Amino acid sequence: MTMDVAAVRAAYPALADGYAYLDGAAGTQVPGSVIDAISAAHRAGLGNAGGVFPASIRSAAVTAQCRQAVADLVGGAADGVILGPNMTTLTYRLAGTLARAWRPGDEVVVSRLDHDANVRPWVQAAARAGAVVRWAEVELPAGDLPPGQYDSLLSERTVLVAVTAASNVLGTRPAVAEITAKARAVGALSYVDGVHATPHGPTDVAALGADFYATSAYKWSGPHVGAVVADPALLESLHPDKLEPAPGTVPDRFEQGTPPFADLAGVTAAVDHLASLDASAAGTRRERVLASMAAADEHEQALFQVLLDGLGAMEKVTLYGKAPRRTATAYFTVAGRSPADVAAQLADRKVNVWSGHNYAWELTGVLGIRDTGSAVRAGLVHYNDRSDVDRLLAAVAEIAG
Ligand SMILES: Cc1ncc(COP(=O)(O)O)c(C=O)c1O
Repeated sequence: MTMDVAAVRAAYPALADGYAYLDGAAGTQVPGSVIDAISAAHRAGLGNAGGVFPASIRSAAVTAQCRQAVADLVGGAADGVILGPNMTTLTYRLAGTLARAWRPGDEVVVSRLDHDANVRPWVQAAARAGAVVRWAEVELPAGDLPPGQYDSLLSERTVLVAVTAASNVLGTRPAVAEITAKARAVGALSYVDGVHATPHGPTDVAALGADFYATSAYKWSGPHVGAVVADPALLESLHPDKLEPAPGTVPDRFEQGTPPFADLAGVTAAVDHLASLDASAAGTRRERVLASMAAADEHEQALFQVLLDGLGAMEKVTLYGKAPRRTATAYFTVAGRSPADVAAQLADRKVNVWSGHNYAWELTGVLGIRDTGSAVRAGLVHYNDRSDVDRLLAAVAEIAG
C-alpha cells in the first residue's frame, strides 16, 4: 500500500502554478483525466436523457456510470445513488421529504460538530413539523463527539440522527457506526455527512450503518456534483416533491431538472483516478479504491504529523482539536494576528488556506472563536507533499514573528 506522491501531483495541471494547495477541504483541484473526461463527453455529443438517438443514449449511459462510480467509492448500490448539484441542496431536499412524515413531538438529533449543511436543514424541517431538536455536544478541548451521550439523546420518538463522518475544521472522525447503531435501535434513520470524510480514507456506508450518506465530488478531485447514497428500498418508501411528468422511479425521482451530464462523466473519471492512487492496487474498481484510499490516508497522516509537530512547536500558535481519529486538517490561530490576516499573508507567500468558521457554525461557537474570525484551516489531501507543509511552516513562523 504505497502512493507515489510525485506521480500523483503530476496528474494535476493546476498544481504547476507553484502554490501550496492546502485548501483541499474547501475543494480539491482536478486531475487532467477529469478535465479530459468532461471535454470528451462534450466532444462526443450529449443530448437530454430519455431520447432514442445516440447523443441522448450517451447521456443516460454517463449518468448510469456515474452512479456506479459513486457506489464503488463509498459502497452501496448504484440504484441508491441520488445525484445533485451539491450536498447542501440534496440535504435540504431529503430533509423536506423525510419531514413529511414527522409529527409534533417527534425528535431529531443533530450535532454541534457538524458543518451547518447537516444541521440547519434538519432544524428548519423540524420547526415546520413541530418536532423537537436535540443536540449532541462536542467535548473540549479534544473536539470529540462522545457516542455515549446518544443514549440519553435518543428515545422512541427519535425519527432522525444527523451526524458527520468528519469535522471540516477539526478533522474529528466521530464513532459514526456506534452512533448509527444506537439510532437504529430506537427505530430512527441516520443521515451521515461524508463530505469531509470521503477524500481522506476508505469508506463503507454499510459498515458506517448510514441510512443516508452524503458526499461531494469536488472534495475528491471531481467536478461540482453532490451525491447521497441510500438503500434503494428505503428510497422507494419516500416521496419527494417532483414535477408531474418527471420520472417517478428511484433514484431519479429525487433528482430535479436536467443534470450536468458532462460533469457526471468527470465524477466517474475522478473515482477512476482515486482508484489509481496506489498504482500497485489490483482487482475490481471498488477493491482498488479501498486500497488507494488507505494509501492516501497513510500518506496524509504521515505529513499531518510533520505539520502538527511544526505548528505545535511555535509558541504563538494555538492548535484546535486533538481527537484520536482525525483527518489531516489543522485549525489554528496565531497570537496577535487575525485569522484573515494570516490567510492573506500566507497567500502572499503562495500558500492557499482558508480562515473563518468554514460553516462549522455551531462548533466555532462552542470553541468561542466564531466572533473573532475563528481560525486558519490548512488541510492536506493526497496530492500534498512535504514541500507544501514545509512552506506553510516557514511562512507561519515568519508571520508569527
Ligand atoms: C463537512 C461538510 N459538509 C457539508 C458541506 C457542504 O457541501 P456542499 O458544498 O456540497 O453543499 C461541506 C462543504 O464544505 C463540508 O465540508
